[in-house]
Amino acid sequence: MAGKVALITGITGQDGSYLAELLIDKGYDVHGIVRRASTINTSRIDHLYEDPHNGDVQLRLHYGDLGDANSLRRILSEVQPTEIYNLAAQSHVRVSFDMPLETADVGGMGTLRLLEAVREYQVTTGTEVRLYQASSSEMFGKVHETPQRETTPFHPRSPYGVAKVFSYWAIVNYRESYGLHASNGILFNHESPRRGETFVTRKITQAVARIKHGLQDKLYLGNIDAKRDWGFAGDYVYAMWLMLQQDTADDYVVAMNETHSVREFLELAFGHVGLDYNEYVEIDPRYYRPAEVDLLLGDSSKARKQLGWEPQVSFHDLVQMMVETDLEQAVREKALEDAGLSPSITNRKAA
Ligand code: NAP
Ligand code: GDD
Repeated sequence: MAGKVALITGITGQDGSYLAELLIDKGYDVHGIVRRASTINTSRIDHLYEDPHNGDVQLRLHYGDLGDANSLRRILSEVQPTEIYNLAAQSHVRVSFDMPLETADVGGMGTLRLLEAVREYQVTTGTEVRLYQASSSEMFGKVHETPQRETTPFHPRSPYGVAKVFSYWAIVNYRESYGLHASNGILFNHESPRRGETFVTRKITQAVARIKHGLQDKLYLGNIDAKRDWGFAGDYVYAMWLMLQQDTADDYVVAMNETHSVREFLELAFGHVGLDYNEYVEIDPRYYRPAEVDLLLGDSSKARKQLGWEPQVSFHDLVQMMVETDLEQAVREKALEDAGLSPSITNRKAA
């Protein structure tokens, strides 16, 4: 695998951290683009900088932003990647209604800035760069058929979904116009213990653990009848890598092919610690969205057949893994509270 150089945008996010781990394991020289922030936000990748066996540097970070085309061109010429994984986005659907322009600028125009940088780079250096685009099942939105597959028409229901549809077609267009090896992974929801704390699964598992340890007494949620096709992020980044190993670029749905409601997720997560969610959950309309995606259910048979991809972690095991990890975190939080170092009961309504 010597000579393979990967560049990941969005490396500080959930998927970026799992993907960086996978590529380091595969012997890639891994680089990531990070935004400057007033506090350090690299906690998901801090364990990856050095090889634990010999101390060699195995991950390098570069300041840049999908909003800053110059920074993308500079980083490409410094890093000289053979594969680029574009994972950067304002990825929260409800927040995209509050910040539609930022969401479109990063999740839509940002992809175009990157595509232009890649095209220029290929023309000037004559080197092939393969590109992965983090497309989303959110593009199916108000679904036209169930299950959703590669040929299902898009009907996005949020500024986030609209931005992702723009990026999807920009990738297809650069592939058709310039022969770029650019692929869309249409990934359905995927979660993990590293999932952002304001997405519904992690919000639930964190609340379960905190309630169990007396750190929280209520969980405020929005539409708990929504259904999603949830898988494990570690499995899904493997599909991203597989897409860039194909001779020909293409677009693939990646999903578990099963759907569950938020209510079912609640039952399993609270049930795992012997609690009944009905006693703790309250509905707060402020978590409703102006337009909702009621049901997502994928058909990933193309990815399974052509890429040989198979998920390893079931829905049930995923919920258990997330609750268990958050229980460990709650124990640490409780110890701090008992030592008088953190506030007592907080229901985290801001999440
Ligand atoms: P995430 O945890 O929210 O990570 C998003 C990443 O994008 C973070 O590293 C963030 O950096 C970065 N970012 C945001 N704005 C940026 C900008 N202007 N310039 C550079 N970087 C920027 O998301 P995720 O769950 O890992 O998802 C990865 C990608 O897959 C996203 O594009 C998401 O939309 C897409 N996707 C996710 C799912 C899912 O279920 N997880 C499903 C389908 C598609 P900071 O840390 O600085 O904020
Ligand atoms: N976040 C959140 N918070 N969602 C809630 C809540 C709550 O308090 N209560 C109910 N929900 C419902 C939402 O209305 C939605 O129907 C469902 O739970 C899932 O919400 P999220 O976990 O925020 O995920 P998402 O499906 O909107 O978006 C995620 O998946 C997409 C792929 O389909 C994100 O990761 C996107 O970036 C990704 O593209």
